[in-house]
Amino acid sequence: VEDDEEATPWKEQENWEADQIKKASMGVGTKDRKKGQKEYDLVLPDQIEFITDMVMAGDVDLDAEAEEERKRQERISEAETEFEKLQAGRRELPMFKYREELLEAIAAHQIIVIVGETGSGKTTQIPQYLHEAGYSKAGKIGCTQPRRVAAMSVAARVAQEVGCKVGHEVGYSIRFEDCSSDKTVIKYMTDGMCLRELLGEPDLASYSVMMIDEAHERTLHTDVLFGLVKDIARFRPDIKLLISSATLDAQKFSDYFDSAPIFNIPGRRYPVDILYSKAPEANYLEAAVVTTLMIHTREPPGDVLIFLTGQEEIEAAEELLKQRTRGMGSKIGELIIAPIYANLPSDLQARIFETTPVGARKVVLATNIAETSLTIDGIKYVIDPGFCKQNSYSPKTGMESLIVTPVSKASAMQRAGRAGRTSPGKCYRLYTLHSFQTELEDNTIPEIQRTNLGNVVLMLKSLGISDLMNFDFMDPPPTETLFRALEQLYALGALNDHGELTKLGRRMAEFPLDPMLAKMVIASGEMECSEEIATVCAMLGVGNAIFYTPKDKKVHAENAHKAFHRGNVGDHLALLSVYNGYKENGSSSSWCYENFVQQRSMKRADDIRDQIVGLMDRTEVPLVSNLGDHDRIKKAIAAGFFYNTANLQKNGGYRTVKNPQTVHIHPSSGMAEVMPRWVMYFELVLTTKEFMRTVSDINPKWLVEIAPHYYSAKEVEDLAARKMPKNMGKAADA
Ligand code: CDP
Ligand code: MG
Repeated sequence: VEDDEEATPWKEQENWEADQIKKASMGVGTKDRKKGQKEYDLVLPDQIEFITDMVMAGDVDLDAEAEEERKRQERISEAETEFEKLQAGRRELPMFKYREELLEAIAAHQIIVIVGETGSGKTTQIPQYLHEAGYSKAGKIGCTQPRRVAAMSVAARVAQEVGCKVGHEVGYSIRFEDCSSDKTVIKYMTDGMCLRELLGEPDLASYSVMMIDEAHERTLHTDVLFGLVKDIARFRPDIKLLISSATLDAQKFSDYFDSAPIFNIPGRRYPVDILYSKAPEANYLEAAVVTTLMIHTREPPGDVLIFLTGQEEIEAAEELLKQRTRGMGSKIGELIIAPIYANLPSDLQARIFETTPVGARKVVLATNIAETSLTIDGIKYVIDPGFCKQNSYSPKTGMESLIVTPVSKASAMQRAGRAGRTSPGKCYRLYTLHSFQTELEDNTIPEIQRTNLGNVVLMLKSLGISDLMNFDFMDPPPTETLFRALEQLYALGALNDHGELTKLGRRMAEFPLDPMLAKMVIASGEMECSEEIATVCAMLGVGNAIFYTPKDKKVHAENAHKAFHRGNVGDHLALLSVYNGYKENGSSSSWCYENFVQQRSMKRADDIRDQIVGLMDRTEVPLVSNLGDHDRIKKAIAAGFFYNTANLQKNGGYRTVKNPQTVHIHPSSGMAEVMPRWVMYFELVLTTKEFMRTVSDINPKWLVEIAPHYYSAKEVEDLAARKMPKNMGKAADA
């Protein structure tokens, strides 16, 4: 849940990507290359016509501000060492002028809502001010972030400014990675990790201040935190709460927190021209690339920021941009492409902050993360295709999906604002003014109203909150979704008939995992295959970034991947054999290379596995290995995932056993051609169809054995007795 913008491909990526590249390359170099001619002429095939609608007015006097900016840069560059430059830079942030006033306000009030433009210094400066003012003597200063990339990168920056290593005075904590120590006094963490900390420390006793940052994002975990910290503030008069937000509708936060005062930090805002495409764009990725090249060849210097929906799209755009600029050589200036998304390794993430050399132009390809969580200096042009990836959830079917959705007007305004931070800018919207006016919602629906609540309900229950219907939510989740979560936790044995947490439920809550995974891990102890299940769980935790298939070695890669599925063992066991192969070969990169497995993901799986094993130890799950007994391992998986089962239909599709709906095996699955009669799956994703991802065959008898309260013997027998056409349902038929 934490990794909002990850993984799920929303189109069958390979074909689609190939298609894009084909289309793109048709546009470049349409003039035949003559002998001896080194470069292509610059041809922009399908230019996009934009119309300027309005100017998002800034509140600065341009001439005066240009002079001010010059002075600011001068003061910064006068500093002698890098460290002093950083300190000088801190003093030039809009926030700095309000340092004393803010500290006074915090001293006088327990809860304050802080509003300020993105980049004014809220996230990096406020925790430092509090530290400098002595708050850290009474306890840590915590600051939550909705995204893990932001938590890491902000901690790195603040550590630089404080002059320490990350993990010492300044640290961060994200799921499966704690980079903090006893010394840590300023701690950035994801909102999800803050909730986890509450399980061990329900009153946040070790903190003197908690800043709930990026409150306007209204993520599920942030919303739940609101309710919890509001309560903590009542019985801990010494703790300070700061609720900080980038948007102006802070009144809602203030109202919720018993009329907490609003502290407004005026930022510097330059005017931004807003341009709309004249006609709707059939392919916004293509349009974004063309627009980038138009800017690059015609507009004055300044970096470009493109908002895309996820890793696949970012990679495709990067490829397209490279294709299109290849061979243009000195006809155009250098284009530096810098992607940023949640799964990008952190050393590469740092590239987005590097200063662009004179004559070159940087193009940052970013997910929503660059909307408000990260400030990138030097952006003058924003390209906004108008989409983001959002989860949606149907409590009726239990189907959770990440789908590409139009952004809200509020989001679009934030995106445009990124162009006017240090000078006047332009925002190219790849949709029409009419779409903006008629099709976009005013605000994004809070995540709590469109997601599965299993995890959160389990956490709230273990925090002793029994009456969820009356929990103080800022915007309550749909009742059906709450019921569904309660029902699922009951089916898993985490809650009893009265809706109270069971002993099992308490153990499940110890794991930072979805309830189904937690149940699987705990059950594997009694079922004596916990070593294997720890691995399966870790591999599932990495997401679908384990295998890779380079375009030029497709057949080799596919054969290598097939080897892991030998014997049609199912995807879960295939993941297990990937991990074991990696370990048996000394975690070597050559093994990864030969098997077309991403080493980075394997390292992460290793880290996650260590943590799961640590938690198993703490919750007294014995570590037992039973590698040869495939049925046993699958049964243990089913102990958590009996909820996610489907059986084959005459028409070759599948139907989920409970809450029936038609689903299909994802083509990436090793089971896609095997088509067993009964399967369990890790997740349902909606792409071109409703797909089950990570699939293994099961024996339906197990269901009755594992979850007698959920499946009746008769129900399963009836389903199993149906006749199937020949050649269908090859695997175990009970
Ligand atoms: O939180 P807010 O949007 O108000 O601003 P911030 O994240 O504290 O950023 C303040 C300044 O720190 C930005 O203008 C960036 O120049 C700088 N910064 C950076 O260089 N690298 C980061 N990872 C984060 C911030
Ligand atoms: Mg911030």
